[in-house]
Amino acid sequence: MKKILITGGAGFIGSHVVRLLVNKYSQYHIFNLDKLTYAGNLENLSDVDDAINYTFIKGDITDEEFVNSLFKKHKFDSVIHLAAESHVDRSITDPLAFAKTNILGTMVLLNSFKSLWQNKWEGKLFYHVSTDEVYGTLGETGLFTETTSYDPNSPYSASKASSDHFVRAYGETFGLPYVISNCSNNYGANQFPEKLIPLFINNILNNKSLPVYGDGKYTRDWLYVVDHAIAIDIIFHKAKLGETYNIGGFNEWQNIDLIRLLCEQIDEKLNRKEGQSEKLITYVKDRPGHDLRYAIDASKINKELGWSPSVTFEEGLSKTIDWYLENEEWMKRIISGEYVDYYKNQYK
Ligand code: NAD
Ligand code: DAU
Repeated sequence: MKKILITGGAGFIGSHVVRLLVNKYSQYHIFNLDKLTYAGNLENLSDVDDAINYTFIKGDITDEEFVNSLFKKHKFDSVIHLAAESHVDRSITDPLAFAKTNILGTMVLLNSFKSLWQNKWEGKLFYHVSTDEVYGTLGETGLFTETTSYDPNSPYSASKASSDHFVRAYGETFGLPYVISNCSNNYGANQFPEKLIPLFINNILNNKSLPVYGDGKYTRDWLYVVDHAIAIDIIFHKAKLGETYNIGGFNEWQNIDLIRLLCEQIDEKLNRKEGQSEKLITYVKDRPGHDLRYAIDASKINKELGWSPSVTFEEGLSKTIDWYLENEEWMKRIISGEYVDYYKNQYK
């Protein structure tokens, strides 16, 4: 039985990847290593946690001794590495935490993988999950391709860029078999309500103001999280070693237009008066170093591996709102505790 280590599997994207692989591949044993930071939530995986091909391990990827002993004990054939500090605003408040987890944590995993297999690389793979933010910002035109130069602007994207460089360096220097994907903004069920879409859904449902940074004209390329998980599965199985794949939805939205669509869909679902939720929009101080626009050219993964998004944005957003409406308890448990202080500090 192949043993696959997924890091960060209790987080937003990680939980969708774990669910997909556990259900689809009975011939794999999936190990989920997660520190359960504020962003990790085992409730995200309650439907698979007693599957016989699944094991959860609580632990920190920056803990070298612990990670080494885990690799020696389980002899993981492959790693799908998602664990990270992932929120740009938090990286502005506490950059060091991002360097530690995203750079050091990635290096600890690379070292353990390298020491375990000692050049016997047949059938082994280190898959590093990264972001389009490493490319920096686009102007009003153009798309990020796999050959766009790295030009990160936030401590978060700088730490992810650095981790990408280390993965490639281990490939070049030690022959470690790797693949990297750089994806655009994800949305969907189980996303922590610090990110735009779940934060705004929660605020609309609670009639709280919607804090739009700057003029709201920043642009992101949105992808439904299940489609990202499917892309990861395909890349894991079909990618050429040492390659990079950009993943995106060909789905650009200016924040303000997306927020208006979100308000409209929620008003309709809740039979609220037309235009009611839009009144909650409040323009607030901009994010420092705010990247103007991200947009992915996903033609490589489409042409070489046959992947393309399965849902339109309107469908994906509607499913996402329905999930949050049906899982109010999930949200309630999250927005008590640490979240209260985070919200006060971020939006004071
Ligand atoms: P998330 O913040 O929801 O989840 C991160 C998970 O990592 C959490 O479960 C957390 O507990 C765990 N973790 C954090 N530090 C850890 C440590 N030191 N040791 C072990 N576990 C630790 O993040 P996400 O949005 O699901 O993103 C997952 C990955 O995908 C990240 O690498 C991120 O950079 C990348 N990515 C995210 C997006 C997006 O839109 N969210 C887009 C492209 C790429
Ligand atoms: O592009 C991929 C990246 O997308 C991932 O690597 C990151 O992990 C993920 O967090 C996301 O980064 P963004 O900074 O683009 O996502 P966020 O949801 O924080 O913000 C989306 C846009 O909305 C951005 O232009 C900032 C704006 N925004 C965000 C928040 C939280 C607001 O206007 N108000 C807000 O309160």
